[in-house]
Amino acid sequence: MVIDKEFAKKRIEELRSQIERHRKLYYEENAPVISDYEYDLLEKELIDLEEKFPEYKTKESPSEKVGGAVSKGFASVVHPFPLLSLENAYNEGEIKDWISRLERTVEKTDLEFVGELKFDGLSVALFYEFGKLSKAATRGDGTIGEDVTQNVLRINNVPKQIGFKEGALIVRGEIYMPLKEFKEFNEKREEEGLEVFSNPRNAAAGSLRQLDPSITAQRPLSLYVYQIMNCTSRIPQTHYECLQLLSEWGLPVDSRTRLLFSEKEIVDFWREMVEKRDSLPYDADGVVIKLNSLELQKRAGSTAKAPRWAVAFKFPPEQAKTKIKEIVVQVGRTGALTPVANLEPVKIGGVVVSRVSLHNEEELKKKDVRVGDTVLIERAGGVIPYLVRVFEEERPPNSKEFVFPEVCPVCGNRIHKSEGEVIKRCSNRNCKAQLKEAIRHFASREGMDIAGLGKILIDKLVESGKVKTLSDLYLLNEKELALFERMGEKSAKNLIEEIEKSKNRSYDRLLYALGIRMVGEETAKVLAEKFYTIDLLKNANEEDLMKIQGVGPKVSKEIIEFFKVEDNVKLIENLKSLGLKMEGEKKEEGPLKGLTFVLTGTLSKMSRNEAKEILENLGGKVSNSVTKETNFLIVGREPGSKLEKAKKLNIKILDELEFEKLISSYS
Ligand code: IVH
Repeated sequence: MVIDKEFAKKRIEELRSQIERHRKLYYEENAPVISDYEYDLLEKELIDLEEKFPEYKTKESPSEKVGGAVSKGFASVVHPFPLLSLENAYNEGEIKDWISRLERTVEKTDLEFVGELKFDGLSVALFYEFGKLSKAATRGDGTIGEDVTQNVLRINNVPKQIGFKEGALIVRGEIYMPLKEFKEFNEKREEEGLEVFSNPRNAAAGSLRQLDPSITAQRPLSLYVYQIMNCTSRIPQTHYECLQLLSEWGLPVDSRTRLLFSEKEIVDFWREMVEKRDSLPYDADGVVIKLNSLELQKRAGSTAKAPRWAVAFKFPPEQAKTKIKEIVVQVGRTGALTPVANLEPVKIGGVVVSRVSLHNEEELKKKDVRVGDTVLIERAGGVIPYLVRVFEEERPPNSKEFVFPEVCPVCGNRIHKSEGEVIKRCSNRNCKAQLKEAIRHFASREGMDIAGLGKILIDKLVESGKVKTLSDLYLLNEKELALFERMGEKSAKNLIEEIEKSKNRSYDRLLYALGIRMVGEETAKVLAEKFYTIDLLKNANEEDLMKIQGVGPKVSKEIIEFFKVEDNVKLIENLKSLGLKMEGEKKEEGPLKGLTFVLTGTLSKMSRNEAKEILENLGGKVSNSVTKETNFLIVGREPGSKLEKAKKLNIKILDELEFEKLISSYS
């Protein structure tokens, strides 16, 4: 296509201002309004046009700069070595071109590469002096970043001391929020009525760039390092060996990093990671391919923006366009009103998506989502699908703004919004929607684990009035259950057996199943450990509760509020008289008492949770991270970085067979 010069000039200006705007939203406000893929397309179009019309090139163009500006709240750090960005490649052809260009530049063929994941987080430079972490800075615009030392010091897996003590080291890496933690973190925020983060990158950026480091400390952030920027001692001659050295010094390096010896191996690595994308523990938007030899890296050099020796080989976007059929407002266990859009089903990354949460009224208003709208849905790296944007230009002419209900859509009662919260809640404790959700939570696998008590049956039990409170479940009998549609005698019998069996679930599970706001599985466990009986917990005051690790003022307030409600106290009394466990077992008594275990990798015969339960039942303690206090590391398939750490700390390592031998010797 021949592009008219005038048109090109106008379009370049347009693209520049759009890119500036989106960079500001992404880097400074942590609230992008378009997807990364769409953003990349804008950048690509600008670069192409500037190449075709070099007369319009300027130093001020965003194509010449990287990243965002420095925020006012942080001190500035001038990067001694610029933190460059990466060129992107989107398909095999572009990778082929990149390799050919590189071969010509370094005048060598048969090059060796390293493949890494492209972690979707926030780029940082860490400065170590004589083994000690002395400074940490965000990338900022690549030349000047923000001093986030105090915040980074509070991130668990960032080593404050490293094995290299002889001089200075600057290392580059990515701070990210692992997916599991992101999900839990957002759920907690939703429960608390706070705004949720739309993806793990925004959550990581928002958590790291906090002016109060104690807030960062509470956020589940993690680090991977991927480049030595400078070291005062001699370092190996290849990038791969440098990463090994960083790992030996105690810095976290991703174990998926791999040496690649040909174009084919690069493409295979990319393909493999595209396949594994959804099962990675973090969000990644591609792989990064780097030339292995540092000598050749130097020879290839960099442009003002990116090195020539590395390229980001992006994953195909896990996005799709679809239409909104309906917007409904659901009422959750705690009465929270959540707008949900029912979509025309669409396949994204191999999974059919037919619903997407719109989180809360504010979010819905901000995006102005309407029935009939065409929308872009993203489902990156196993993250729950989210609505990226509405295509306003495709909106039907007669569409109307969605009106949020004034009363609870289920029971018609008043709704309220607590101070500082964005979520509206139904005020009626006996609202059927809340009761149904409470039963689902109670019967869930992590709770009382009542198999066969599914959503449809719960609806029927509540609607028929058979179950008015959780304890009514234990009063059901086979005959009346069998009368329910599609139930039959056999399943009724099974369900009654399951309900009966659930009476034996441990006290900490029961605590979780009761659905006290903000009390998740972990909190329930520590509460059960410290307050040996439910009466002790009931009588605990704020001071007693706050002594427990992980229990802050909000959690303790919720616990106290829970026991103030007469219906809840009555429920506990009823459950107690029905024979449910209201006190803990002394698990610490057992052959493994006093020993701490950590698990890594996948076990073939059982899940990690099952292994954990077995060890705990034998009196052992299971912890999440390897420390000096760890006695044994149990290693399954594809172990993580815990293995390296355990080796360094001389911790006894058990493979799966040895672990099985250990437990079977006590059973
Ligand atoms: S290397 C000069 N390696 O991607 C070397 N970057 O789009 C440039 N990123 O700003 C960086 N994972 O924040 C490198 N394994 C990895 C990475 C990675 C994520 C980020 C980094 C960079 C951005 C460029």
